[in-house]
Amino acid sequence: MHSIYLLLFGSYLFWSVLSEPNIVYKLKNIECSTVPGFSANASCRIRAINWNKATAEMDVYLLRTLYNITIRFQILKKDYSNQFQPFLVDVIINMCDALSRRNFLPYGLIILKISRTFSNFNHSCPYRGHLMARGAYLNESFFPNVFPLGFYKLNTTIMESYITPPSAHVGGIVWYVQVMQAIQPKKKPNRDLY
Ligand SMILES: *[C@@H]1O[C@H](CO)[C@@H](O)[C@H](O)[C@H]1NC(C)=O
Ligand SMILES: *[C@@H]1O[C@H](CO)[C@@H](O)[C@H](O)[C@H]1NC(C)=O
Ligand SMILES: *[C@@H]1O[C@H](CO)[C@@H](O)[C@H](O)[C@H]1NC(C)=O
Ligand SMILES: *[C@@H]1O[C@H](CO)[C@@H](O)[C@H](O)[C@H]1NC(C)=O
Ligand SMILES: *[C@@H]1O[C@H](CO)[C@@H](O)[C@H](O)[C@H]1NC(C)=O
Repeated sequence: MHSIYLLLFGSYLFWSVLSEPNIVYKLKNIECSTVPGFSANASCRIRAINWNKATAEMDVYLLRTLYNITIRFQILKKDYSNQFQPFLVDVIINMCDALSRRNFLPYGLIILKISRTFSNFNHSCPYRGHLMARGAYLNESFFPNVFPLGFYKLNTTIMESYITPPSAHVGGIVWYVQVMQAIQPKKKPNRDLY
């Protein structure tokens, strides 16, 4: 099922690359949720950098040690009636395996690049205490291809011991992202012309 989606996605993106030369993935908003008993004191905010870029500053405290972290990563895209609809990616990733390089799911790698580059979620399991990210954003180079222009919701749900009972919802991070043509700063008039 996923491979068919990825194939369709791939050809769609191929044409997008040809027609959209200068695309940025601008973070518009962020929401973090905690689960009593598992996580607390979450603080997630956006910092504006320029017209084309904003970064995420995130903090959360784990109340229990996490040994077997699984995440569900879903991408949704806003449709013409302003509703978010599932957009091709809905994957379950064993993060502990990914962090210790035991699996290589394509979208696992995107999350891994973001977390390794911008956060202390950068070592093998287990995890405890303060988790944080500073200056996090979606660099266009993280994506194998360019997404179609529009508004997206990237929903990451974090779980402990998924499948093996008792599985537990630990928290969630939702990023709202606009895929848009980069806004070029106005150029100063060129005096040599006069
Ligand atoms: C969360 O914040 C409250 C109030 O500042 C503090 O008492 C508590 O220790 C904090 N919890 C954690 C796990 O950091
Ligand atoms: C850890 O989670 C994975 C699913 O992501 C599951 O297959 C595995 O059995 C779990 N391991 C333990 C020790 O719970
Ligand atoms: C993980 O991130 C922390 C905080 O940014 C940093 O101090 C540490 O060196 C990093 N560790 C690895 C293995 O990259
Ligand atoms: C993405 O990363 C490249 C290489 O590190 C850098 O040159 C570029 O400026 C980054 N993009 C943004 C939007 O910061
Ligand atoms: C994110 O996905 C989880 C289920 O995986 C769902 O419970 C939650 O409502 C979603 N969050 C948003 C903001 O859509």
